[in-house]
Amino acid sequence: MDRKIDFWVPQFGSEEKSLVAEVIDSGFLNDGDVTSRFERQVAELLGCKHVIAATSGTSAIFLSLAGVGIKAGDEVLVPDVTFIATANAVSLTGAKPVLVDVDPQDLTLDPAAAERAITPRTKAIIPVHVSGRAVDPSTISDLAKRHGLLVIEDAAEAFFSKHRGRCLGTFGSAGCFSLSPNKTITTGQGGLIVTDDDQLHIRLRELKDQGRPARGTGGDDTHNTVGYNFKFTNLQAAIGLAQLKNLPHRADRMRSIYEGYRDGLREVEEISVIPFHLDDGELPQWTDVLVDQRDDLYDHLASRGIRGRRFWHPLHTQAPYRMPSQQFPNSSKQIPHAMWLPSAFTLSDEDIAAVCAEIQSFVKLQTGLKRAPTRQHSIT
Ligand SMILES: Cc1ncc(COP(=O)(O)O)c(C=O)c1O
Repeated sequence: MDRKIDFWVPQFGSEEKSLVAEVIDSGFLNDGDVTSRFERQVAELLGCKHVIAATSGTSAIFLSLAGVGIKAGDEVLVPDVTFIATANAVSLTGAKPVLVDVDPQDLTLDPAAAERAITPRTKAIIPVHVSGRAVDPSTISDLAKRHGLLVIEDAAEAFFSKHRGRCLGTFGSAGCFSLSPNKTITTGQGGLIVTDDDQLHIRLRELKDQGRPARGTGGDDTHNTVGYNFKFTNLQAAIGLAQLKNLPHRADRMRSIYEGYRDGLREVEEISVIPFHLDDGELPQWTDVLVDQRDDLYDHLASRGIRGRRFWHPLHTQAPYRMPSQQFPNSSKQIPHAMWLPSAFTLSDEDIAAVCAEIQSFVKLQTGLKRAPTRQHSIT
């Protein structure tokens, strides 16, 4: 089979090459002026006061938590369905990630479950905008206000995705993005923190760079506090600046890929495309679905050269965070049915139609085998 439809394909072109070459020619590859230019452009694009570039989405979340004062003895609410980095970032501060079940329909953090998990030690909540889908910021901020919690948004998968016209990541004390290769814009690795809080901004710069509030010389600098080295580089920023130029085109394509699946699979009862609110400005990073025979479908597509991706195992099933499954009825029931369809912005309409056709032929095959007479996942 010649056909190859990938889950994701990062794209780089001549603009990236020439900006990287400029940085190399400048002789200054470290975190410097090009990084600042990239940070300013992102701040303007997302509509926030400060952007701090760091080594990864994970370090961005860790720095944000440390920056607002999360420490050993504290508890932080984290959804059971997220990339493990969210919980790991909490653990690295010494605090305890407290897992919270998800909404069975859209697989994002369930605010009611979060409220039930609050104890006197709970200091913060991390809504994770999985696949670019908003965890309603007004519900979370209401919950946070009532219980005196800080909100750190994990918007790793939600760059330029909006809720009611405002960019995700800009609602909490800080919002964190990932620039890893399967994101809308990538710098190889990398992360961004956004905040409107001037003091937190300074604190984050100190934590990111050995306690220095501003870039130093490496010599007679003033170090106000203990800090890490989570600096970005001008090389990464050069790639980021070039990637930003392609954002409008990529965003359009990602929306139309989701619409293609949504419309192409509307009549297929065995699969539910999880909805996005495009009118609110949500940007589908990846199209996710709930499907009865998920593993069989995954294998069927793979055998046809089509690469989906199964959802992460719920965190409560992973060794560092193991908890009884009865406490997570929604993630336990739904995640074995959840997968992402190929979502690369490089996919053509014909690719999307081919994936839908393969899904339909899989369903026919299953029905012929009389293996899936009733829907097993639940979505209304
Ligand atoms: C939801 C979520 N949180 C955090 C991260 C961590 O980002 P990074 O891989 O850049 O450290 C990711 C990365 O894919 C993610 O998907």
